Amino acid sequence: MNVTDFVVDNGTDFWISPRVYTDQELYRREMEQVFRTSWVYVAHESELTKPGDYLTTHVGEEPVIVSRDDTGKINVLVNACRHRAAVVCREERGNSKAFRCPYHGWAYRNNGDLIGVAQRVGAYLDGALRNVDGLLRAAKVESYRGLIFCTFDPQAPTLIEHLGTVRRYVDLWADMSPEPEGRLLPPHRFEYGGNWKMQAENGADGYHPAVLHQSAFETLDHFGVRSRALSNEMLKVGKVRGFKEGHAILEGGPVARLNPKLLASYQRALRERHDEERVQQILLRRHIFIFPNVYLMDGNIRTILPRSVDRTEVRSYFMELRGVDPAINEERLSDLQRRLGTTGFIGPDDLETFAAVQTGSRSRSLRWMVMSRGLGREEDLGDGELMALPSDETPQRAIYREWARRVLAYPSDRSL
Ligand code: FES
Ligand SMILES: [Fe+2]
Repeated sequence: MNVTDFVVDNGTDFWISPRVYTDQELYRREMEQVFRTSWVYVAHESELTKPGDYLTTHVGEEPVIVSRDDTGKINVLVNACRHRAAVVCREERGNSKAFRCPYHGWAYRNNGDLIGVAQRVGAYLDGALRNVDGLLRAAKVESYRGLIFCTFDPQAPTLIEHLGTVRRYVDLWADMSPEPEGRLLPPHRFEYGGNWKMQAENGADGYHPAVLHQSAFETLDHFGVRSRALSNEMLKVGKVRGFKEGHAILEGGPVARLNPKLLASYQRALRERHDEERVQQILLRRHIFIFPNVYLMDGNIRTILPRSVDRTEVRSYFMELRGVDPAINEERLSDLQRRLGTTGFIGPDDLETFAAVQTGSRSRSLRWMVMSRGLGREEDLGDGELMALPSDETPQRAIYREWARRVLAYPSDRSL
């Protein structure tokens, strides 16, 4: 497998092969070289406030339990029994001191330690279980501003290094909650019939909304919800950003989804804690992609869980702000559901399109997709951050350069 079979990056063109959505060998490499070695977002601290709180999710295809143990420490445990591999915990979330495998009854403490083997006495030769002491676990777990990440690579750089320059935007995102940190509600979960990278590309794609979501905007406008105006404003004053670690941002105008009275109350709450310039920065709407699997959006967190090369699960968690008038959260929640909920006006357009891209990418004739938009008008802000116009494909290029670096040994100096 050669990087030039999948990527053209020559200064004028940036092309990606549609096979990145369909190739089984690439997918296998992604599970290994992206999802095991990168830092991957798994949960938010507000979901695990008490000792014993846990939830289940996936890191790539690795099933995991994220649990706060009795000492308060957060663990990312492989949710596969050390006996014969059954998923140990089948619940989505809960609180427990221990997990008991439903197959033959082996039991594990909420920190992963093996504490019981059913009918053990006399069944095993001395020392037969000497290397079986508990659930396997991620190599490292770290949090930043309430966001919990893990990696299975003991050599991985620190989470702070992985975040790089995007960290200052993560701070702005977290500061949306006047009282830190915001609180996540249980997610909407849904699937689409396409590769996981489509959602990664799409959340920071400022080129498509005016076209793909045109009818949704018209309908929303008809019912008095300003949406086309926000989209047009994004095209006028917005920006996109791409980062050398594969992160990306789509930035719109100021948050204007709240009615004026609630917006004023929200601004007051922010001004009690931040100076005016920072308040204005916090109020800009952003979709922040942290490579490889999470979007921090103005109303929610959206995680991407690959299921197979052509099937992806998405979980969307409303983020409740703390330290604000409850009416603000009510309005934000109904806005989120109206736009991006599973029966919202906008979200389903994207999911249906991902399936269409998956179908198109099975073409034997189409050799390349064109992602060159805006090459030549990007501004280099230093520290590996490029900024461009909101319809430029700077975010997609950042994502694919990091992706190619991990799965195809793409040179980091970009001289293909
Ligand atoms: S597979 Fe878990 S106890 Fe047998
Ligand atoms: Fe969209």
